[in-house]
Amino acid sequence: MGKYTLDRTRRRLGYSVLGALGVWMVWSLLPGVPVLRAPRASADEKAQGASIFEHEWQPHDPLANGDGLGPVFNARSCAECHFQGGVGGGGDNQHNVLAFEAHPTRDNPEVKGGLVHKFAVEYQYKEGQQALREFFPVVPFGVKVESNCQVLRLDFDPIRTESVNSTALFGAGWIDRIAGKSILHNSMKTSVSQIGKELNSDFGGVGAGRPRILPDGRVGKFGWKAQFATLEEFVAAACANEIGLGNPKMSQAKPMVKDDYPDISPDLDPKQFRSLVAFVDTLPRPAIILPSLPKERAQAERGEQVFRTVGCAACHTPDIGGVEGVYSDFLLHRLDDPSKSVKYGSKETVEIPLPDEHPLPAEWKTPPLWGVADSAPYFHDGSSGTLKAAIENHHGDAESVLERYKALPDVDRTALIGFLKTLKAPADGKPVEKPQHTEVAQAK
Ligand code: HEC
Ligand code: HEC
Repeated sequence: MGKYTLDRTRRRLGYSVLGALGVWMVWSLLPGVPVLRAPRASADEKAQGASIFEHEWQPHDPLANGDGLGPVFNARSCAECHFQGGVGGGGDNQHNVLAFEAHPTRDNPEVKGGLVHKFAVEYQYKEGQQALREFFPVVPFGVKVESNCQVLRLDFDPIRTESVNSTALFGAGWIDRIAGKSILHNSMKTSVSQIGKELNSDFGGVGAGRPRILPDGRVGKFGWKAQFATLEEFVAAACANEIGLGNPKMSQAKPMVKDDYPDISPDLDPKQFRSLVAFVDTLPRPAIILPSLPKERAQAERGEQVFRTVGCAACHTPDIGGVEGVYSDFLLHRLDDPSKSVKYGSKETVEIPLPDEHPLPAEWKTPPLWGVADSAPYFHDGSSGTLKAAIENHHGDAESVLERYKALPDVDRTALIGFLKTLKAPADGKPVEKPQHTEVAQAK
């Protein structure tokens, strides 16, 4: 090969690299394909899915192809935890779920997570925090703490538990269709405008959140930690973990205390599973219901303006990816009081840090606010009973917004809550047929 052809090859290669880079840059600046069509399913499929969602599963249930309910479970039906404002709504604190995460240590270098199930079909399978401790013991002197120029070595407890509240599922199909790219694009746009503000010495901005990028590169959208990218995967996990229903996408949870519990054929067959996903996918989206009295209506309208001017909309993005009125950026934020937390990123060093892309214990996804008027209690742990309490629970990334909120005249604060009260569960949801508060299922 002569020198000339070699140069030409190099030049061509250079051009194509540049070209690819250009295409990538343009692509990354585009906002992602907006959602244009509503989720759809046939009436038959929706009806079958609804009956599976509401069915109270029993051990060896005739509807199941495997062992039915369990071996370990948190409730007997989806509707038992998802019922407020209609079938598929949020749940009360009585139905919170105990989630755990075991942080990396030398002996267990990977982050592990799961649920501590409330119930078991047989007493010998019963789970508890003690069983968890046997798997993830405290590491003696596993953490280095710097305080007042002193370095201390303390025991490291790798286990974090969190009681999580059931979210409302109305409109889930719309969220499923929001392109991951739309979330990344919105996140980039907000960061750029934040930098702009800081250059103008306006430091009253809002702490930037970050997208949850899952190990396979997709953007997480579902769950309080944005731990799943698609609705189908979340439904599969809910069947397997909450009720103990194996399905085509996930096998049922095995008792923590009996890892060699036999593999059993899936409880739900592909058709049953598809219809359940279709039902959740087509749950109607939440509604905006304005008060009929003109005075209250004007107040709610004023409240929406306050929502934007005070800075709530920086995280509770009203429209994203073509879905209007969802009020979330789907990013992880920290709302804990920084002066009260020493863990991670400040003065504590653990043996093996969490991987960068893994959410910190204090990071939570901005919850969509559509339907919020009908989904109390609030926050991941259901610790805020009212909308007012929920707002006042914002610190960390939202501290500046909270300060502006506190400085508002009373009428504006009331108007803001008046606006949130217009974000209702859909009027055309399926009513809950029987009270779901009654007895929680008991282990045999
Ligand atoms: C014991 C109570 C309980 C039961 C039973 C239950 N869930 Fe949930 N569900 C929850 C909790 C708690 C969350 C929030 C979990 C999280 O984010 O980590 C949740 C979240 C979800 C989400 C994610 C919603 C979002 O927007 O992030 C979906 C989808 C879901 N559940 C579907 C189902 C389905 C389908 C069933 C029945 C197979 C079911 N759930 C049964 C408690 C329950
Ligand atoms: C920095 C981002 C950010 C800002 C700014 C912000 N929020 Fe939030 N909001 C969140 C996150 C994150 C959560 C969930 C926190 C958790 O569960 O621990 C949340 C939770 C909520 C909830 C509870 C929703 C539920 O389903 O549990 C309400 C209501 C709420 N915010 C309203 C507001 C209002 C009103 C404002 C403006 C005064 C505001 N937020 C400003 C990020 C933000």
